[in-house]
Amino acid sequence: MKTSIALIGFMGTGKTVVGKALAWKLNREFVELDTLIEQKAGKPIPEIFQQDGEVAFRELEIEVAKEVSGNKNQVIACGGGVVLNKINIDRLKKDSVIVYLTASPQVILERVSDGGDGWERPLLKASNKAEKIQELLRFRKPFYEQAADIRVNTSKLDIGAVAEQIINKVKQVENFSL
Ligand code: S3P
Repeated sequence: MKTSIALIGFMGTGKTVVGKALAWKLNREFVELDTLIEQKAGKPIPEIFQQDGEVAFRELEIEVAKEVSGNKNQVIACGGGVVLNKINIDRLKKDSVIVYLTASPQVILERVSDGGDGWERPLLKASNKAEKIQELLRFRKPFYEQAADIRVNTSKLDIGAVAEQIINKVKQVENFSL
């Protein structure tokens, strides 16, 4: 039986806030891959990208995804690019139902802009952020869809309501124990 939930989806789809609420409601441990990567690297994500490059970041992401995928009873908030390396999803799927959070490009733009959730994503540093989001979304959508067991739209995000929707949907997953 699977006992964990892994949240995937584009930047700004609410993986962290929803994940925390979900973990609290389900009395499970909340873990965030981005935080584990920062701890391992000893520096914040923008510095990892700037000093070591995206490939180094992805290698750290593979390491932490592997580490957490062996644990039980967790809610795991993944970084938006976790789906880019299939090995991550293969490993996470051993104990996690994969929940794909979506939001419209416009909502994503608002959430990741200044005054949104407060940190500048290295991959969205572009003169035209809206275009960059569209481009990355187009490329990544098939990866998210392929990985997802369940899908929830967070565009009209009410954190508690999204968490409840997830709980109702995971209850219907056969090999998941709540
Ligand atoms: C990334 C998303 C970020 C972070 C890094 C790369 C991506 O996480 O892992 O900046 O490739 O989409 P969030 O999805 O939590 O913003």
